[in-house]
Amino acid sequence: MIELTQQMRKFRPPRSPAPGEFVGRYQILRRLGHGGGGEVFEAVDPRTGDEVALKTLRPDWAADRRRVQEFLEEAYTASCVVHPGVVRMRAWGRGGACIPFLAMDLLRGDPLSVRMARARLSIREVVRVLDGVLDALEAVHAAGVLHRDIKPGNVILARRCSDRERVTLVDFGLALRARSGSPRESRVSGTPAYMAPERMRGHRGTPKSDLYAVGALAYEMLSGAPPYGHEPPEIFEALGRKLAPADAEQPVLSRWVARLLAPSAFLRPSSASPVRSSLRQLARSGEIIGLAPRPPIRVARPLALAGASV
Ligand SMILES: Nc1ncnc2c1ncn2[C@@H]1O[C@H](COP(=O)(O)OP(=O)(O)O)[C@@H](O)[C@H]1O
Ligand SMILES: [Mg+2]
Repeated sequence: MIELTQQMRKFRPPRSPAPGEFVGRYQILRRLGHGGGGEVFEAVDPRTGDEVALKTLRPDWAADRRRVQEFLEEAYTASCVVHPGVVRMRAWGRGGACIPFLAMDLLRGDPLSVRMARARLSIREVVRVLDGVLDALEAVHAAGVLHRDIKPGNVILARRCSDRERVTLVDFGLALRARSGSPRESRVSGTPAYMAPERMRGHRGTPKSDLYAVGALAYEMLSGAPPYGHEPPEIFEALGRKLAPADAEQPVLSRWVARLLAPSAFLRPSSASPVRSSLRQLARSGEIIGLAPRPPIRVARPLALAGASV
């Protein structure tokens, strides 16, 4: 009896780590964000000084083998993609109080959701974000992975090593390796505002479904809201109805967005690469208003060389 009480005292149910505590070799510094499945912290490995973003599973799910397996699956799937626009996983396992964790590169910046809430993006920024997301998505699909949760909270705008701000995709929590499993899902998961109609109907998705989400993201950056709003009942009701252009002042860019949002996957482009090329082409052609191509730089030829044969 005494032994049992001592055992019970030793057992502490997993709980969220607090600043200063260790999860594996990482010491928690502060909380960066949280979602339905857990929390993300800034943490450091004191032996090396390495700073990471540390994602932990919700403590009340830590004893559920299926949830733990699904949580750690994010690290395996994300690790299939090596690209500067995709967050790099560094370590994963079970840490202090047996809480499952993933350690990844720490991105110093803001999620697109925060940036959009702060101010309307300029057209140049919209194009730059779309270009970055499509570049990363091209690598994701080339690695045989579907992201399945492209949305503003999962696109981070961060500066690395003092270079220009760039787009990084995070959150491979719903990602799948494209060729594994059945095309139907028993449990539909995702964020309705950015989910392609076929995914809402229980299809696991294809690269075209990720491209639909890019279209929804573009629509939101241009108009201030995703195509059919945020609330599931409204979305289900409106899905497939003719959409207003994302930005009445940008007819060409709005048509580009509308192709990604075609309700039928058959009418959507099938891969990120030509979509990105067409965006770049529009940007160069001057058809995107406010993005006029810069005049070519005139290089003055030195007088002495003009006309001289070399
Ligand atoms: N590598 C990272 N560096 C910095 N912040 C991050 C990183 N990964 C996630 N975050 C922050 O944590 C939030 C939630 O992370 P995410 O992986 O999307 O978890 P969830 O599955 O809970 O949505 C993000 O929106 C972002 O604010
Ligand atoms: Mg997320």
